[in-house]
Formats: sequence, C-alpha cells, structure tokens
Amino acid sequence: MTPAKSDTPLQILISAPDDAVAQFQPAIAKALTAAGVTSHIAPDLAPENVDYIVFAPNGMIADFTPFTRARAALSLWAGVDKVLDNPTLTLPLARMVDPGQREGMIEYVTAHVLRHHIEMDRYIMTSQGWDQIAPPLARDRKVTVLGVGELGGACASALGALNFNTHGWSRRPRTVPGVTTHTGDAGLDDALSGADIVVCLLPTTPQTENVLNATTLALLAPGAVVINPGRGSLIDDAALIAALDSGALGHATLDTFRVEPLPEDHAFRDHPKVTVSPHVASLVRTDTSAAVIAKNICRGEAGEPFQHLVNRQAGY
Ligand SMILES: NC(=O)c1ccc[n+]([C@@H]2O[C@H](COP(=O)([O-])OP(=O)(O)OC[C@H]3O[C@@H](n4cnc5c(N)ncnc54)[C@H](OP(=O)(O)O)[C@@H]3O)[C@@H](O)[C@H]2O)c1
Repeated sequence: MTPAKSDTPLQILISAPDDAVAQFQPAIAKALTAAGVTSHIAPDLAPENVDYIVFAPNGMIADFTPFTRARAALSLWAGVDKVLDNPTLTLPLARMVDPGQREGMIEYVTAHVLRHHIEMDRYIMTSQGWDQIAPPLARDRKVTVLGVGELGGACASALGALNFNTHGWSRRPRTVPGVTTHTGDAGLDDALSGADIVVCLLPTTPQTENVLNATTLALLAPGAVVINPGRGSLIDDAALIAALDSGALGHATLDTFRVEPLPEDHAFRDHPKVTVSPHVASLVRTDTSAAVIAKNICRGEAGEPFQHLVNRQAGY
C-alpha cells in the first residue's frame, strides 16, 4: 500500500461546511504526510486539477462533471443517501467507515439499551419511595438490531457480550459472534417478534423506508423500546406515536428524524415517552477518519482498489 513517489503534491479538494473544513483539513494533511504523501488540500481548487474529492455529501457539490482528473470521491460521512441520486457523480464513491465512530456508536447504543434494560427511569421516578423490584437479567431480554453492518454489527456484538438475547437483521446472510442473525421478510418477523428493545442501524433506501410501521411494531413485546440512531425514514412516525400513546410501546429514543433539525413543534419534542437527541449518536472522529481518508488515497495512488465503496445498486 505504498503510494508511488511523486514530487508534485496531490491536489485534494475538501468540500464541506467551514467548521468541517477546519476540523478535517489539517488532520488529513497530517495523516498523508505520515504516509509519505505530499498534498495540497484546499476548499477552492480548480476542478480540472483535482486528484481526489473529500466531501460532506450534503449537496455542496451539485455537478461533479468538471472534476475530469479526479480518481475518487471520498465521503466524510457514513451515510451517503443525500448524494446517491446525483447522476453526475460517476466517480468511485467511498463512504466513511471510521473506527472511532464505530466505538462511539457502541457506547451510545449500549448506554441507551442499558438505560431501558435496568429500568433506570422507573427507579429515578420512584426515588422518593422504596420500590425493590428487580429487573430481568440481560439474558432474559430480547434485543434486536436492524442492520448489522459496520456499526450495527459492532453494536450487536457488544450487546451479545453483555449477555442480551441479541438478534440481528441484514439484507444478506451475516455471521455476528454472539448474535442470532436473520434476513428477508420472514427473518424480519422472527427478529422483531417478542423483542423488548429494537435498535435501528439501517441505511435509508427505498427498501428500508418505514421498516418499523404499525404492522411490524405490533410484533414487539408489550412495552418495548425503540432506539433509532439510523435514519428517520426507517420509522413511520405516526405509527410510532400511536403505539406509544396506546401503551403498546414503552419508550422511543430517537437521534435521527425525517426532517433535521427536528421542527420545534414536532410531536416527538415534548412527548413524555420520547427521548430526542440532535443526530449525535456517533459523529465521525477527526483523527481516525482522517487516517481512513489518507489510507484510501494511498490505495488509489498505489493502484489498489478503494475501500468502503458504495454499492450504488443496493443504495448504500
Ligand atoms: N446517528 C448517527 O450519529 C449516525 C452515525 C453514522 C451512521 N448512521 C447511520 O447508520 C447507518 C448504518 O451505518 P453502517 O456504517 O453500519 O452501514 P453498513 O455497514 O452499510 O450496514 C448497513 C446494514 O443494513 C443492512 N441493510 C441494508 N439494506 C437492508 C435491507 N433492505 N434489508 C435488511 N437489511 C438491510 C445491511 O445489510 P448487509 O449486511 O446485507 O449489507 C447492513 O447490515 C448509516 O447508513 C447511517 O444512516 C448514523
């Protein structure tokens, strides 16, 4: 993976909001220097001179056709749903698979699963009393993770290691240590039936839209909890609120929404059974993600295949 030596600095466009440019530009430069690559990274290069595009896929580049020399578009984000329908983006497209972000997601998911598992809210609410009802052990809780890819697979593994009766669901068959895995429509029913806690870590695609709806939510155990750090489109909002209001569901912990920022007057904001966070379940971490970008650029320069390429047909 040693790139061919050249005295000419690689021209790397970084296209992202100003704060992200300030965050990632020096870190990527440092990682490339450490890898022996000379680079010039800037947010304002002439398109025809650009060798690599490092970008936040939020529509800042509308037209990729002037980047005639670019070898790849490297996303700073894990989710690339906002750019996949751009017909001008025909370059190899790699999404972010950041070990730091993976660690952060494991921490977020296990924290929220444990909050509900040990029934922390109930004990805090009854702290004036002396209610000594023991919650079940993890082995007696069915926790299902929808999507067992880079993030969901790591979270499911961690939950399995905590002894939860952990299930996972994916498009293709997957093996995840300590996890019972399922695929397909029948597999979804098996994964959700009787689940006490569901964690959504699917990408947004036409196939995953509203995967949690009135029918699938009805499969969960009474009083079940939904945790969604995946994407807002995975859940039918009205069906979720109806299930919370009827008592069928116990709680929803939501980090992602159909409209972000979540509108001030949205029913999730003040719902007593909903916890809202502002899409911060796990952000990309500067140094670990810069190393991923630098490694992919080195692979490109060495003529090796890029890592983490998006499967455009599958939509993620
Ligand atoms: N809130 C946050 O802070 C935050 C941060 C980062 C990412 N995210 C979200 O997390 C998502 C997952 O990230 P990741 O890196 O783990 O993605 P990933 O590695 O691509 O994993 C996606 C998982 O979803 C499964 N899947 C996709 N379509 C499916 C379908 N139609 N039916 C069943 N399973 C399906 C995949 O199945 P296969 O295994 O068969 O491919 C895979 O297991 C991202 O797309 C993004 O939306 C949120």
